[in-house]
Amino acid sequence: MTPVRTPLDAVRLRADFPILAREIAGRPLAYLDSANTAQKPRQVLDAMTRFYEASYANVHRAVYQIGVEATEAFEAVRPKVQALLNAPSEREIIFTRNATEAINLVAYSYGRTNLGPGDVVVATEMEHHSNLVPWQALAAATGAEIRYIHLDANGELDLGELAEIARAGQVKLLAVVDQSNSLGTVNPIRELADWVHGQGGVLLVDGAQSVPHRPVDVQALGADFLAFSGHKLCGPSGAGGLWGRRELLEAMPPFLTGGEMIRSVRLTGTTYNELPWKFEAGTPAIAEVVGMGAAIDYLSAIGLDEIHTHEAAISAYALDRLGEVPGLTVHGPTDPSRRGGVISFSLDGAHPHDIAEILGADGVCVRAGHHCTQPVMAHLGVVATTRASFYLYTVRDDVDRLIDGLHRVRSIFRL
Ligand SMILES: Cc1ncc(COP(=O)(O)O)c(C=O)c1O
Repeated sequence: MTPVRTPLDAVRLRADFPILAREIAGRPLAYLDSANTAQKPRQVLDAMTRFYEASYANVHRAVYQIGVEATEAFEAVRPKVQALLNAPSEREIIFTRNATEAINLVAYSYGRTNLGPGDVVVATEMEHHSNLVPWQALAAATGAEIRYIHLDANGELDLGELAEIARAGQVKLLAVVDQSNSLGTVNPIRELADWVHGQGGVLLVDGAQSVPHRPVDVQALGADFLAFSGHKLCGPSGAGGLWGRRELLEAMPPFLTGGEMIRSVRLTGTTYNELPWKFEAGTPAIAEVVGMGAAIDYLSAIGLDEIHTHEAAISAYALDRLGEVPGLTVHGPTDPSRRGGVISFSLDGAHPHDIAEILGADGVCVRAGHHCTQPVMAHLGVVATTRASFYLYTVRDDVDRLIDGLHRVRSIFRL
């Protein structure tokens, strides 16, 4: 394998990921689907096994030793997330199952309290369905109007539309993805924060595709809420989080109700727990949160800046090599500095599902489909694309195998 010349030694890091040693059809896995979900390093798997074997118990309830240890291990993850996002307080970190639940929490709790007829909720044409459908449902439930920032021909947001959106009513909330999962586009979040604050609204950032891949600073971004998923940052599935500004979270009613989120319950009524537990009803994903903490430690030790630099180098190499394949169109921004490590493409004469199946038979894992962004597909005029996405363990050899596979697709279909 050719080592990639960046400060991060991806070849060495691959040894941390047991699954990458797996062979399919006699070839090691070329996992190019990290935007979907990331693989897990031994450090995360071991942390979860250790926790289950030595300290597993429910949290916030038991006074016996393993109960105390479990609570400490679980709560120790909150300051790790706080540091990862540069959040002002660990009280502002709420554990959820994933980014989708974090966004729904805001849509239900903040949205249904603060929006009504005459108000506008703004989303964009490039949102993942997780950051689109909750706002459509909110608009339908409250009588607020939903408006969209559309895409331009380059796969970037057309900010020229903001003035017209502002005239549609009182803008209360803008929900926008930091980095698109289907186009790779990196959005001008600070500019959008300034705009929505100027309208008297708040900004929710979908950080599902940025938090795992580069330094994200919620204060520098000017965000009010940020959602992310642990499984995309090398943690286990089932844990993720929401960061929100304390004053907003304090004023919001609970999302789910039940155990854990209460201070006292009488038959005549209930008072709620303080932040963050007010928003964490029921037994949480205890070991998964512990695993997410181990993943944050792992990524932080490597350095999010280094990961970003590595992915930028791999993306530039992949964009170059994809250019060699006749009939192939890369979607999204043409300027590599305007995109992250996600490349969606179409190949004339071959359906994305056929491409993914042919590549998959040789151990090259890419995703084919609409990537939960059907409006983006409509904008591109396609029903689906093939997507290759990169992470800290991606090496040039993975990209070379993708390119070889695409040439094979062309020869199978006689293109
Ligand atoms: C940009 C973006 N937002 C939200 C999500 C939803 O993440 P999850 O399914 O972990 O809730 C994804 C998942 O692919 C995503 O890429």
